[in-house]
Amino acid sequence: MMSRNVFTCCRAIRTYATAPGLSTVGVVGMGAMGHGIAQMTAAAGYKVVAVDIDANMLSKGIKAVEDSLSKVAAKAVKDGKADKATAEKNAADVRSRITTSGDIGALSSCDLVIESIIEDLNIKKKFFADLGKVAGANAILASNTSSFPITQLGEASGRTSNFLGLHFFNPVQMMKLVEVIKTKDTKEDVYKLGFAFSKSIGKEPVACGDTPGFIVNRLLVPFLAQGLLMLDRGVASVQDIDVAMMYGAGMPMGPLTLADYVGLDVCMHILEGWTSQYPNEPAFVIPQPLKAKVAAGKLGRKTGEGFWKWEGDKPVAPAA
Ligand SMILES: NC(=O)c1ccc[n+]([C@@H]2O[C@H](COP(=O)([O-])OP(=O)(O)OC[C@H]3O[C@@H](n4cnc5c(N)ncnc54)[C@H](O)[C@@H]3O)[C@@H](O)[C@H]2O)c1
Repeated sequence: MMSRNVFTCCRAIRTYATAPGLSTVGVVGMGAMGHGIAQMTAAAGYKVVAVDIDANMLSKGIKAVEDSLSKVAAKAVKDGKADKATAEKNAADVRSRITTSGDIGALSSCDLVIESIIEDLNIKKKFFADLGKVAGANAILASNTSSFPITQLGEASGRTSNFLGLHFFNPVQMMKLVEVIKTKDTKEDVYKLGFAFSKSIGKEPVACGDTPGFIVNRLLVPFLAQGLLMLDRGVASVQDIDVAMMYGAGMPMGPLTLADYVGLDVCMHILEGWTSQYPNEPAFVIPQPLKAKVAAGKLGRKTGEGFWKWEGDKPVAPAA
């Protein structure tokens, strides 16, 4: 699990006009991504049904939302944007729009369901097959998958024409982008609603075909892998690779810090999927240092060590 709840911003309590025809949104999986999607969706004025099969993860996710909303309220007061009572009421209003359940039956009244569960194709397919049986006839179903074909997930649900990819970025409260992906037969009005919903929660949606990694990860993950291959060749150190890309390419963090930040297991999972599905694509490789760190349980920021040693959200020194 990634550490959560450290990023907050005023946008998290600002409300936008909700998208036409959508009033109740289900968010499934209250992990690193799902809790942020639930928070931003409730902050925009939607009713949210938050579902997780793991009661502990569900309560952790809700606690992360509450902590984030408290920080947003405190910041609004500090910046003179609201008095304490108003800021606290706003936070309480957002929280009151989120109900929770451990049962996907609770999603039957949702106009839109956004799945953000573990990145495992078989688990996601089973989830969508089950969801297809309980969701309302006109419900729009969406996946936040980072690496699996949206069309395959839509087929599992039996509802490809009402199915979309809505790919958010971590941390959801801060990152403005949503990639919107169609299945081969997503209806045009459903696709448009994907854009309208994303805008309504303060995000910037972009259109992308149903291609591995969509836009951002297709460019980013091979870049991270190249950084690790460079480390493996012994050409430059962890620190020098990261400093070089920050000061020479204007990046806010270098590739090894970013790989740690994303989670080395997440990077590995994505590359494993791509290398097995597309064995002839030279950009898809699993560097040895990545395999070694994951095998050692050093997964980056969330475990306190990956290619860097981390104190909370800060990389403090290159790891051995
Ligand atoms: N972490 C990222 O940086 C990132 C960025 C964009 C997209 N994503 C995608 O978002 C999704 C979730 O990733 P995450 O990092 O939040 O994962 P996570 O491990 O933090 O959370 C996943 C949650 O899903 C729950 N879950 C698992 N199976 C379930 C089921 N069948 N029904 C209900 N809940 C279930 C787990 O209990 C857990 O709370 C993945 O598809 C991932 O690829 C992740």
